[in-house]
Amino acid sequence: MKPDVSAMAKFITYRTGFRGGTAVILGSGLGSFADQLADPVVLPYGDIPDYPRSTVAGHSGELVAGNLRGNPLIVAKGRFHFYEGYDYHTVTLPIRLFRELGVSNLIITNAAGSMKPETPPGNLMLIKGHMDCTFRHGVELPRRFTGHPYHNPGLLKLAKTAAGRAAVPLGEGIYCWVFGPAYETPAEISFFRELGGDAVGMSTVPEILSAAECGIPTLAISTLTNYAAGISDKPLTHEEVLETANRVKSSFIRLLTEIVVLINAGEDSQTGKRDLLKRDS
Ligand code: HPA
Repeated sequence: MKPDVSAMAKFITYRTGFRGGTAVILGSGLGSFADQLADPVVLPYGDIPDYPRSTVAGHSGELVAGNLRGNPLIVAKGRFHFYEGYDYHTVTLPIRLFRELGVSNLIITNAAGSMKPETPPGNLMLIKGHMDCTFRHGVELPRRFTGHPYHNPGLLKLAKTAAGRAAVPLGEGIYCWVFGPAYETPAEISFFRELGGDAVGMSTVPEILSAAECGIPTLAISTLTNYAAGISDKPLTHEEVLETANRVKSSFIRLLTEIVVLINAGEDSQTGKRDLLKRDS
């Protein structure tokens, strides 16, 4: 039986008082952003009827609702991946839940491997486009998707302004989605680079696709936590991913905070919301 998303949303609103605003999904090791929220209400996933469980180290598995500089926010600490055995419907359930909760824009974050030697671990990358490199639909070469409806041009522009204000260096690039759970081989990475990819990771793209279907303007950001396989000689480990995420956490928090503030400043103004939804700015 499919979970009743509308009943879940009612439960969450009842428990947290959240009635719309910005949603944030925090990737591996990036959960500390949620500590910035004022008046937080924490809901462990296990308390939400029929909600899936997060099983990965570095993902704590709770929703936190609260305020950031006066702006209502709901934060998902922990997400669901295919490699945990979840299907597409389950991996994207939080997004349909956000729509039901009245979420007006979504910020997705992740930890990813850098496929470019000139962009070392520790850098943040705005996802300006993505490629589905899972081959789940067959053997066709992965296509690159940029712009509307997946990568909101207004939010991308706003994130660059926020990065300037927060004095956080922010690159941009194409994110390649793989299933995992094993890290890639060097041959796979060189193939993804030839296709035009910049970073690789095991999440985010299903959430982007689902948010587009739900009509939620979305911004996605990668923390480059390691060099992808074959880019350096160092063996790749989940510990390195968590260590780097921890190292960049203060700039990551500053950047995200500034983005949330700017999004809400825009929505308060006469034109802000229209700007965010514009297709081709
Ligand atoms: N590959 C896939 N997923 C990842 C990586 C990587 O190198 N780093 C963090 N998530």
